[in-house]
Amino acid sequence: MTPALELRNVTRLYPGEPPIRALDGVDLRIDPGEMIAIVGPSGSGKSTLLNIMGTLDRPTSGDVLIDGIDTASLGDRQRSGLRSGRLGFIFQSFHLLEGMRVVDNVANGLLYRGIDRSTRLKRAREALELVGLADRAATRPPKLSGGQRQRVAIARALVGDPALILADEPTGNLDSQTSEDILELLEDLNAHHGATIAIITHDLEVAERIPRRINVRDGRVEDTAAPPPIPVEVPA
Ligand SMILES: Nc1ncnc2c1ncn2[C@@H]1O[C@H](COP(=O)(O)OP(=O)(O)O)[C@@H](O)[C@H]1O
Ligand SMILES: [Mg+2]
Repeated sequence: MTPALELRNVTRLYPGEPPIRALDGVDLRIDPGEMIAIVGPSGSGKSTLLNIMGTLDRPTSGDVLIDGIDTASLGDRQRSGLRSGRLGFIFQSFHLLEGMRVVDNVANGLLYRGIDRSTRLKRAREALELVGLADRAATRPPKLSGGQRQRVAIARALVGDPALILADEPTGNLDSQTSEDILELLEDLNAHHGATIAIITHDLEVAERIPRRINVRDGRVEDTAAPPPIPVEVPA
């Protein structure tokens, strides 16, 4: 099985005296169908990690493979092609176009894919159905609640059937009941629709529900949920 994402010995230094090691020898593999949480204190390297996972930034050293494709040799255009084809993004602040109908916001997730407009709209409606917003297709975002906006953003992230969805603090702007609903939606998309999802969060309530957690500390990662080996009882 081709991993959705593989990081091999990834280091990212920022200039400074001495240089800042935002990521320090990170190895990470996410398989298709997984849902993981990435947690860690402020300044630990989560955003740097997300940017590198999303090919928005390049590592100083090490390899980044998305859906089996080594990103090192790709130029900027090929990287944006890879992003629009194989990655979906969900942000804390939704990043919707306010003047544009919900269905067009979602269909935008299929731009640069060589898909004609009527097919884009059809697939956008299907994605809206999945997130429970089929009846709001013609609405514009200012008329929606925060939770509904985040559902639109989720539909946009999944409309292209990406190898990996990266969610950066997806519940950070929502009240606790709405956060719960959004998390349930993401869990449902993972469990029943095959979505592979990595959620960056500092919300421990969110993180604790997700079986595999990646702890980031000082630019290093630790897989907290990797189960300890089961001791084998040896009969005396
Ligand atoms: N553009 C940058 N230039 C210099 N240092 C940076 C930059 N971005 C982040 N850092 C530093 O890298 C470390 C990790 O930051 P970041 O990835 O933003 O962590 P987090 O998202 O977990 O808060 C911090 O020490 C931060 O100050
Ligand atoms: Mg951050």
